[in-house]
Amino acid sequence: MIYLDNAATSWPKPEAVYRTMDTFLREKGANPGRSGHDMAVAAEKVVEETRVLLARLLNAPDEKDIIFTLNCTDSLNLSLKGLLKPGDHVITSSISHNSLTRPLRRLEHEGVKVTRLLPCSEEGFVSPQDIEQAIGPNTRLIAVTHASNVSGVIQPIEEFGEVAKRHDIALLVDAAQTVGTLPIDVQATNVDLLAFAGHKGLLGPTGTGGLYMSKRVEPEPLKEGGTGTVSESEEQPSGRPYMYESGTPNTVGIAALGEGLRYLMSRTLADIQTHKKTLLDRLLDGLAAIPGITVYGPRDRARRLSVAPFNIERWSPDEVGAVLDQAFDIKVRAGLHCAPAAHKVLGTYPHGCVRASVSCFNTLDEIDFLLGALEKIAGTEPPRLTADKTQSSSVSAH
Ligand SMILES: Cc1ncc(COP(=O)(O)O)c(C=O)c1O
Repeated sequence: MIYLDNAATSWPKPEAVYRTMDTFLREKGANPGRSGHDMAVAAEKVVEETRVLLARLLNAPDEKDIIFTLNCTDSLNLSLKGLLKPGDHVITSSISHNSLTRPLRRLEHEGVKVTRLLPCSEEGFVSPQDIEQAIGPNTRLIAVTHASNVSGVIQPIEEFGEVAKRHDIALLVDAAQTVGTLPIDVQATNVDLLAFAGHKGLLGPTGTGGLYMSKRVEPEPLKEGGTGTVSESEEQPSGRPYMYESGTPNTVGIAALGEGLRYLMSRTLADIQTHKKTLLDRLLDGLAAIPGITVYGPRDRARRLSVAPFNIERWSPDEVGAVLDQAFDIKVRAGLHCAPAAHKVLGTYPHGCVRASVSCFNTLDEIDFLLGALEKIAGTEPPRLTADKTQSSSVSAH
């Protein structure tokens, strides 16, 4: 089996992630921040160690500014709904993931004004000048995606940060695809809110995510109760991080996320980036050499993540995904990738495309196997997909 759907969630995980989930649940599976016994204290220590590692990775000045959430969507909802009030104005790009666009649409129905900027180039780049020009007296937030999960285009968030700083407006970055993949310094880039997933580039388990919040912003918590601190009060406590972490946390997931972080730090982001770039180069060059395949995304490979979106002439993306899965045991993602507007920019709406996305564990042999499979597919007629997306095809691995 070859897994190339790492932009959805990374797989496999480092061995220590699996081991820690098992041993943590067996040995430290108590409720942190509630009881004073040694098992609860040990659980809390592990959670706080992961928080410190995240703060170090992002160069956050205070680990209390890192809030644990369930996933990146959870972090984006907290940022947007906790900060924006009717009458506020927010500037965003039209090509974001629906984890950003849907909460914004809901807020718009409630009286928040939303400006959606089109990219300034067909490659999907958003212009800092366009952002600056859209700023008005009520602009409270700039909400952008660091890198597209469809085309991989990496936005210049440093320049967005300069605009935000100049106008004293908060900057929210959806870093679902970039934390654990690209180096990010929240202080140097003037980011106020950085939403991320624990289960993608950070190599942690699903059900983990986080939000960095600078001291300049104070979103309202979206949930109350169950913090284990200030038990005598009926009011939500006001200190970070616990005011935002209501209810028993995903301790086992956070413990394992810590191991994902340790793995990344020991191997180094730079080394992982180089490895992924080697895989991406082979993949993009190979795809470009197969007749009938169209590849999308920025031409400048230094400005794109290791995702390769493509289509095969006459074939629908679903047909390619199904044949890769069923005839070759290769896992990719086909369709609109929760980001229909990004596909409109690429010209691939409404059917979308096929996306292969690599992780630090993929190999050149796996990329070559995918390319070999695509060569066979591109020379044949598409199969008929049944309603459950199984296929009958003349293409086989052998
Ligand atoms: C750009 C982007 N934003 C947000 C998300 C949502 O992340 P999560 O599944 O952790 O909520 C994704 C997931 O693919 C993404 O690619």
